[in-house]
Amino acid sequence: MPKTVSGFSKFNKLEKINWLVSAFFNDDENVKDILIQYWNKNEVLQDLHDDFIENTISNFYLPYAVSPNFIINGREYAIPMTIEESSVVAAASLVAKFWSTRGGFKANVISTTKIGQVHFMYEGNKAELENHFNKKKEHLYKVTENITKNMRKRGGGILDIELRDKTSELENYYQLHVTFETVDSMGANFINSCLEAIADEFKKEDIQIVMCILSNYVPECLVHAEVSCKVDDLYAENSEVLAQKFVQAIQIANAEPHRAVTHNKGIMNGVDAVVLATGNDFRAIEAGAHAFAARNGKYKSLTNATIENGIFKFWIEIPLALGTVGGLTKLHPLSKLSLELLENPSAKELMEIIAVAGLAQNFAALRALTTTGIQKGHMKMHLTNIIKQLGASEEEKAFLIDYFEHKTVTHNAVVEAYNKLV
Ligand code: MEV
Repeated sequence: MPKTVSGFSKFNKLEKINWLVSAFFNDDENVKDILIQYWNKNEVLQDLHDDFIENTISNFYLPYAVSPNFIINGREYAIPMTIEESSVVAAASLVAKFWSTRGGFKANVISTTKIGQVHFMYEGNKAELENHFNKKKEHLYKVTENITKNMRKRGGGILDIELRDKTSELENYYQLHVTFETVDSMGANFINSCLEAIADEFKKEDIQIVMCILSNYVPECLVHAEVSCKVDDLYAENSEVLAQKFVQAIQIANAEPHRAVTHNKGIMNGVDAVVLATGNDFRAIEAGAHAFAARNGKYKSLTNATIENGIFKFWIEIPLALGTVGGLTKLHPLSKLSLELLENPSAKELMEIIAVAGLAQNFAALRALTTTGIQKGHMKMHLTNIIKQLGASEEEKAFLIDYFEHKTVTHNAVVEAYNKLV
């Protein structure tokens, strides 16, 4: 059976599965069963999911959880999170509770500007190009009027169009650098449509348009979130030393990119989980956040901490281009529900909530790392996964969870304890 195929996208779902199972799984019926068992019995819902992407053959479940007790700017939230990593939601919930008795989280959006660029090559005289741009500039707005009409009604649109000379970085390379306000939508399609219309109007025979595309690097779509309390209120014992370790942990991340990447990965555990649960694009958020972390030429922490006059302050600044309308946000029933759970936030409010989720994760990670170590909590959460892998019965599971209540969980220790049981 050949392992390549033509016209695959035209096959219906069962035909696709049959082909796949024949070509790659020796006609193993079990594979077919696994794929089919994840189909939703509600056909309308399944059709909806089938149509999100091409060649859908099944659904891939991720847990959908909530993390309650977050207080953000004085409002109470239960934050929806979609993630497979066992300790993330538990950590978020603990930290939410912890800060809820210390004034909660404060967050504010610093800016909301998004960016798109028309990249082009031009070999001619720069003054002539500038002339052409200045003459055309008004028209460049005009040709987008149809596209921007609704956005303008909502308070958004094109903020500015700039001609940028990039020839010092690449011979003959210029760009139209366009800034946008997209209000409550992430705005990717809106931005790209505007850029293509602009490029069409701007082009002339000696301008070679290479491409038009939004940028996922959005340092001016920025949100700040923070917590603070008296150093003495942070821990029951040794508070001063442990608070200091927090500050040192961030200094280490700033000094050492190997640590900074892991440090920021922990932040993104919280960020991505909410981004995903609200139907936003986590790849865009990831790319933008990491570029921001390296904005000064060295990859550094997205969070910061200080101790001043006996006050511990811990904060994050992170670019988040998000939408609460458009895209998948209202189309996927669970994203819609997530947004309802968050009381239908504006994109700005969602930026604040997600920045808080990232900050909370980092607080949880640094607190564990600088005290007990990460494995204690992590392995406790992972215990049920190991028990499941071993195929333990409900009774054995209950015994093992009880047995490890006050013992160190390692994979070997669980296997040994289980083997003694069976
Ligand atoms: C694990 O997913 C995340 C951490 O490694 C983050 C960190 O080290 O700060 C615990």
